Amino acid sequence: MLGLMSAAHETTTSAIVAMAYALAKYPLVQERVRAEMVSFGKETPAYEDLEAMSYTSQVFQECLRLWGSSHTMPRKAIRDVDYKGHTIPAGAMVFISPSFVHVMPEFWEQPEHFDPDRFAAERKEHRQHRHLYMPFGGGAHKCIGMHLAEMQLKVFFFNLLRRYRLALPDPDYVMKTKYVPVPESADGLPLLLTPL
Ligand code: HEM
Repeated sequence: MLGLMSAAHETTTSAIVAMAYALAKYPLVQERVRAEMVSFGKETPAYEDLEAMSYTSQVFQECLRLWGSSHTMPRKAIRDVDYKGHTIPAGAMVFISPSFVHVMPEFWEQPEHFDPDRFAAERKEHRQHRHLYMPFGGGAHKCIGMHLAEMQLKVFFFNLLRRYRLALPDPDYVMKTKYVPVPESADGLPLLLTPL
């Protein structure tokens, strides 16, 4: 149960916090997400509607690229491997870092910029390599809750954004992150919610 609380709920909460920050920091992105959600003209989104929120998916992906909850993932070499002049012996533990791979300048255009359109169908920067984008891990043990997490997040913002405008009290505010046990705002993320 503790594992599930941490693997499922803390990670999803962390993603919601990151997206609330991004929407407040980038008002044009917020308007686009709100417009997508309002376009369904419903009080409650249907299952298919959640899937159709493609721009919101891109924003979610970009939030996980920059502030994803998994910094390292443990693996074990099952045979000797030579990698760039280093030998990794069979049985050695290897720690993979999505946080590093997610900002490699040789793959991502201006990796430090918040740019949800890098995931759009015309660009698909994340598709250059199978494991270039891995906020949910990869291989046999890839997260089983990734679709549920995205649905929860969309339902959360569907309800919030149709009622409130999010803003930062100070436009120059930059979220300070604490990393243990999962990344989240170190100061409670001050937000202004204005009823629409
Ligand atoms: C934004 C939210 C989430 C993130 C960022 C996330 C991330 C991850 C990552 C990085 C892994 C390790 C994958 C690997 O080693 O290759 C993982 C595994 C796992 N996740 Fe998630 N997760 C999220 C939400 C959820 C939810 C909602 C559930 C369940 C309802 C869940 C259940 C699990 C389980 C059971 C595993 C272990 C799978 C296995 O070992 O076969 N996760 N997740």
